Amino acid sequence: MAVRLDLQEVSKVFQKDRESVRAVDAVSLSVDPGEMVTFLGPSGCGKTTTLRMVAGFESPSEGLISLDGKDVTPLPVNRRDMGFVFQNYALFPHMSVFENVAYGLRVKGTAEGDIRRKVREGLDLVGLQKAERRFPNQLSGGEQQRVALARVLVLEPQVLLMDEPLSNLDAKLRIHMRTEIRRIQKHLGVTCLYVTHDQSEALTLSDRIMVMNRGRVEQIGTPFEIYSDPRSLFVADFIGQANVIPGKVHSVEGDRLAVCLFDRLFPVRAVKGETFRPEMAVAVVVRPENLLPSDEGLPGTVRTATFLGGRVEYEVLLPSGQTVLSSDPYLPGQAMRTMSGGSRR
Ligand SMILES: Nc1ncnc2c1ncn2[C@@H]1O[C@H](COP(=O)(O)OP(=O)(O)OP(=O)(O)O)[C@@H](O)[C@H]1O
Ligand SMILES: [Mg+2]
Repeated sequence: MAVRLDLQEVSKVFQKDRESVRAVDAVSLSVDPGEMVTFLGPSGCGKTTTLRMVAGFESPSEGLISLDGKDVTPLPVNRRDMGFVFQNYALFPHMSVFENVAYGLRVKGTAEGDIRRKVREGLDLVGLQKAERRFPNQLSGGEQQRVALARVLVLEPQVLLMDEPLSNLDAKLRIHMRTEIRRIQKHLGVTCLYVTHDQSEALTLSDRIMVMNRGRVEQIGTPFEIYSDPRSLFVADFIGQANVIPGKVHSVEGDRLAVCLFDRLFPVRAVKGETFRPEMAVAVVVRPENLLPSDEGLPGTVRTATFLGGRVEYEVLLPSGQTVLSSDPYLPGQAMRTMSGGSRR
């Protein structure tokens, strides 16, 4: 049975050169049984430290971690029933694939017959049923990563923790493996935390994403919410591409604003939970795909047009001197265009 995982106001303070660094700052998160939550954020924002505290490799300076309501904060790693997949998956080089996957079961004293069955099931799950006699140096990077995953999965952990497990793989394999990981996690229904600083990985893998910045939670939400309703400029800028255009509020009606940009009024959706008044200076966030070339709207000059396969990306110079990005599924007929589009905040 899958478990619920709760973090309540979890913090970690490290002592570094006689200074204290708050690497993780009051992080609260509730993960549903069988849910996959990704920690996403720039280098040094506290993703690994948070994961290590959940695993028990690091103890929190403050806060509580619980499984199904039971406090596990004081428990050592081996009493938490969690599986950890690292970036550097370090298989035992002198052991066959079978033995690598069997290792944890042997340590636990599992009966030989059960080991055989579980290892085969585990290798089946990651698509390596034919490779059990091979050695790690006879496997590709992606295959090695699958063995590392199988090695953890055969132990049937209550919670699966993964810290950038795909960052050593090339781009194509990463994309393939992330759908595999998603499939396996859903198939097993295991509660899962996954660390990445790759936003497209987070968008495809997660039930929910926790965006972190300087040890704090910026926003927790589904990939759709995080992308379409970012609560801060940091989130808007970190997930996908964002044009941030300064403007002034003209009028407010519920969560709808009319915002003045370059002497023209545009309808804009307000960020939830914030109050806006006429005359307020605001930052309007527009995704490139919502900023489409047209004959009316913002005046702008196309500086570059880049063909990217299914779409064309334009760099457009606005009268203010700011350059914005526009992404259009069609090829341009002319070099000079004006811009219009849906916008928010
Ligand atoms: N053992 C430690 N002692 C002192 N400071 C530490 C220790 N571990 C981490 N830190 C600091 O805590 C902060 C968060 O580190 P953490 O490894 O959690 O970041 P991260 O989000 O995983 O980054 P990355 O994407 O680079 O892996 C950093 O400033 C880091 O230098
Ligand atoms: Mg890290």
